[in-house]
Amino acid sequence: MQVFDPHHSSILIDEKTIQNRVRELGAEISAQYPDGVTLVGILTGALYFLVDLSRAISSPIEIDFIGISSYVGTSSSGTVTFTKDLSREIDDRHVLVVEDIVDTGRTISALLTLLKDRNPRSLGICTLLDKPERRIVPVPIHHCGFTIPDQFVVGYGLDYNQAYRNLPYIAVLTPP
Ligand code: IMP
Ligand code: MG
Repeated sequence: MQVFDPHHSSILIDEKTIQNRVRELGAEISAQYPDGVTLVGILTGALYFLVDLSRAISSPIEIDFIGISSYVGTSSSGTVTFTKDLSREIDDRHVLVVEDIVDTGRTISALLTLLKDRNPRSLGICTLLDKPERRIVPVPIHHCGFTIPDQFVVGYGLDYNQAYRNLPYIAVLTPP
């Protein structure tokens, strides 16, 4: 496990606060989909959130993943590339996209366009974090863990060049 330099970071959301909020979101989602829902996680950032969230949902669930990449370092490349497709059909299913963070909105927007064509019964978005100040493309967010200011964050799945995903909390990364 890489060493996280505390001089170049500060904790924004601690582990307990994340876990409490994930349980609340799980209850919200269970109430909304009593007959079940397919969780579609966006790789790789949403992995930790999706695992914890799925355990907080009491309705029947299916899990699938889609691979999308748009970020290099701390800035969005602006182009969204699909790197892995879903493993199963979603037609006539209630689908809830699970994302780590909505920033410009480009990723979610491109994904919604793709998934809508596959005729799900419903299509919702659940994001752990929302950075509304950076939004370029408006997107409907149905479940949101935390709204955060315009700062680059890592941990609990979020990375900086693939590092820091395994931190149990969300930290702001300040370059040295
Ligand atoms: P968007 O397409 O600009 O909304 O970007 C969404 C994707 O960019 C997320 O799925 C993240 O992978 C990545 N991202 C955006 N902001 C951050 C951040 O502060 N830290 C780490 N990754 C981020
Ligand atoms: Mg992502």
